[in-house]
Amino acid sequence: MSAVLVVHGGAWAIPDELAKASVEGVKSAAREGSSVLKGGGNALDAVEAAVRVMEDNTVFNAGHGATLNIDGEVELDAFIMDGRTLASGAVSSVKNITNPVSLARAVMEKTSHVMLTDRGANLFAESIGISTVPTETLVSEYERKEWELHKNYITGVKEDFGLKRAHDTVGAVAVDCAGNVACATSTGGIRNKMVGRVGDSPIIGCGGYADNLSGAVSCTGHGESILKVTLARLILSHMDQGKSAAEASELSLQNMADRVQGAGGAVVVSPSGQWAATFTTERMAWAAVEQDVLWFGLDPNVKQKEKFHQ
Ligand code: GLY
Repeated sequence: MSAVLVVHGGAWAIPDELAKASVEGVKSAAREGSSVLKGGGNALDAVEAAVRVMEDNTVFNAGHGATLNIDGEVELDAFIMDGRTLASGAVSSVKNITNPVSLARAVMEKTSHVMLTDRGANLFAESIGISTVPTETLVSEYERKEWELHKNYITGVKEDFGLKRAHDTVGAVAVDCAGNVACATSTGGIRNKMVGRVGDSPIIGCGGYADNLSGAVSCTGHGESILKVTLARLILSHMDQGKSAAEASELSLQNMADRVQGAGGAVVVSPSGQWAATFTTERMAWAAVEQDVLWFGLDPNVKQKEKFHQ
């Protein structure tokens, strides 16, 4: 079978000033992840590589460019999961780390735990030689300006996910030539969140899930809503009952809207290579590589394609 990789750069009301950079950013991430797959890497390597590209790009809310909490600090959450064994790793409220997704992978591979949080996550990073950077290195000019302007969490959530305009989360899913699936998700969370607030992204079954028997999902959107409906597992449970990746995503996002009035998005792959990128927010930058085609989009129901060159 041929490998497929799908990435998202966050579902929210992306303003026109960030639209082009967001689309270019997800395309670069998809190219990087796919190059890993084409170079013989597995799905897990590919999703980590793709998410690292977006964590390094200040247009996205993850790593560099992450949103600020109520105290003006950066607290990062990330998750990674391997569909072969259900091995998973997560970090939450970690500080001063440029690539939290790789720290999450280290939690998965080098500890007996699934998640480390806050000081414990930073102590672990230090113990394995992952260096830290000053907070200001992670803060983009755009985020500093937006944080100064918008100091109210609730209004921000309504503007970003409910009605109009905080950044939200990056993620990737992949299936490799052997039919193994993986997912990864990384975020700075929601602007003006309380200190210590953890959203859906690092929580297994909510911000992501990967199981070779079902598929892989990475979610984005209003974290508290996604947590309440365990969105990633909900999508996969619909797929387990025979729905396509697209139908399962649409049904689950609609359920989240109906039950808890939450908006968001998801990228999904099945073990057979079927995929979807779906959202109920105003926009979501996404890109997918399937064989030699790079698909991408930003606005609802608009899907573009170009030839994929490594
Ligand atoms: N979806 C990211 C968050 O709410 O933290």
